[in-house]
Amino acid sequence: SPLSSWLTQLPKIELHLHLEGSLEPQMLFDLAVRNNVDLPYVNVQEVTKAFQFTQLQDFLDIYYQAAQVLVTEQDFYDLTWAYLLKCKEQNVLHVEPFFDPQTHTDRGVAFSTVINGIDQALTDGKEKLGISSELIMCFLRHLDEKSAFETLEQAMPFLAKLKGVGLDSSELGHPPEKFSRVFAKARELGLLTVAHAGEEGPAEFIWTAINDLKVSRVDHGVNAIQDPELITYLRQTQMPLTVCPLSNTKLKVFEHMQQHNILDLLALDICVTVNSDDPSYFGGYMTENFEALAQALDLNQTQAIKLVQNSITASFCDEQRKQELT
Ligand code: HPA
Ligand code: ZN
Repeated sequence: SPLSSWLTQLPKIELHLHLEGSLEPQMLFDLAVRNNVDLPYVNVQEVTKAFQFTQLQDFLDIYYQAAQVLVTEQDFYDLTWAYLLKCKEQNVLHVEPFFDPQTHTDRGVAFSTVINGIDQALTDGKEKLGISSELIMCFLRHLDEKSAFETLEQAMPFLAKLKGVGLDSSELGHPPEKFSRVFAKARELGLLTVAHAGEEGPAEFIWTAINDLKVSRVDHGVNAIQDPELITYLRQTQMPLTVCPLSNTKLKVFEHMQQHNILDLLALDICVTVNSDDPSYFGGYMTENFEALAQALDLNQTQAIKLVQNSITASFCDEQRKQELT
């Protein structure tokens, strides 16, 4: 459709993307062979069948298992490069990807292997594709504070390659304040902070992400709608929310896209943005997320442009790059 090609051409920014979640089934099989890792699937059809989630934990179990095929620096380079090529195809000009070091260091892959592979691809992405980036390291919230501190310690020689830290994995039972001290240390080191909050968890977790972790953005945050005072706060402070429409319907945060609240939040003048989260698991990259909103919620061009402007405002790039993107 005309809108669909307009959405592909539209210059876009991505602020909520897990690199491990951009591992496509074909690369999963190729890397399993390359590294001699056993997979519980024999073909792409079986993978597709396994990707039928109805909640966050079901997805996470499969996502962590698949990540085991990532072993060498080249693997992390290839994963990141494939994502950047997709961005190029969809006119995504700036990205702020997440990675989960503990998923790899806990099975013996060195922190340096992970970050050097990712960083080299991001550097090449800037030079060869013109895509700028800022990298964010996430702590796994189902693990303890000690493990998060150890991970921050491992990151110390690489601080120049990192813009911030984030918090992801199983939200229920793991409130943001579990990581208050580690986030305070990260801020002392000059890192910005973000956290997943209000995806499956309550609006209260958005408050504690803001007040205890001092986040610059909230990842997901759609459950803010349950708390009118929080909605007022988010509007007044223009605290950005990195919303992921296809992720939310795949994990049944909303039963159908028609029920998604992103355009209601936009109408309330909250700084919402569109992102893909884990595109190989949830059915699409940036363009497909915008297209899903166009199909289910009649997203128009004015709204799409505002959503991208919000992403520029919310991004961690410098003022000069923001000017170029505007
Ligand atoms: N939520 C929490 N953890 C995650 C997600 C998510 O949407 N994607 C990858 N890790
Ligand atoms: Zn996420």
